[in-house]
This record gives sequence, C-alpha cells and structure tokens, in this order.
Amino acid sequence: MSKITRRDFLKIVNKVFAATGLAAVFGPIVAYFYPPKLEEVPAEPVLVTTEAELPVGKAQTVSFGRYPALVIHTPEGLRAYSAVCTHFACICKWDEARGEIVCPCHDGFFRPEDGSVISGPPPAGLKVLQTEIKDGNIYVSAGGEA
Ligand code: FES
Repeated sequence: MSKITRRDFLKIVNKVFAATGLAAVFGPIVAYFYPPKLEEVPAEPVLVTTEAELPVGKAQTVSFGRYPALVIHTPEGLRAYSAVCTHFACICKWDEARGEIVCPCHDGFFRPEDGSVISGPPPAGLKVLQTEIKDGNIYVSAGGEA
C-alpha cells in the first residue's frame, strides 16, 4: 500500500475545494436555466383545509401549482382566486379587518365576492377559481371565469 505524502494530501484537499467552489458558482446558473417543473395550474383539486377551520370572514392561502390561491369564506359562501395580482404579479392577501383582498405592492384592492377591482392600479380582477366541499374538506380547482 502506497503512502500518501503531505503534498499529495494537500493536492487532494485543494481539488475538493476547487470542485466545491465550481459547484457553488455554476450550480445556481444551471438551476436558473433548468428550473424545477411546476404545473401552471394543478390538474387535480387541491386541499385547502376543513370547513371547521375556515369560518365566515376567514381566508386561507394555499399553494396552487406555480402560484398561490386565496380561498375566502364570505357571508355569501366560499370564493377562491389566484392570489397573483393582475398589475405586476405581487401576491395578494386577505385583509380581514377591511374585508377586502389587498395587494401590498401598490395598494390594489379587490372585492372578496367576485375578485373585481375596488381601487388601485390593477387593470383587471383576480382570476376566479372554483371551490368544492367533499367530506368536510374544502378543495380549490381551476376552471372558474376570469
Ligand atoms: S402589483 Fe398589485 S397593485 Fe401593483
């Protein structure tokens, strides 16, 4: 069995550090050009929560394919929208105190009943999604009117 000299050991360590450095530099570049595949819109309904956990006036944001969906329990029933603002694609949130959907980027406001614009720069309402309840669970799916 050959003996590793101190010089050989340092060469190996140097190569390991060089490989790690290259991976650190080129890994993100490769990841940029080959991003993970995420469905634009899921083919199957996505579980939101249970009916009991979403009382009237509350909302839940869930991952919905590539983008989040916002599901609101309004006095008129469940409503669901893409949470992506139609202005510059910021993620909208439910403002329970105001009773409105809010885009924090440029103060866009949307109606919870139909996702239409109340005020602010968004050029159109939020994309409508569908909800359904099965066995006490709330699901969101694509297919609503825009
Ligand atoms: S991105 Fe929503 S108001 Fe500008």
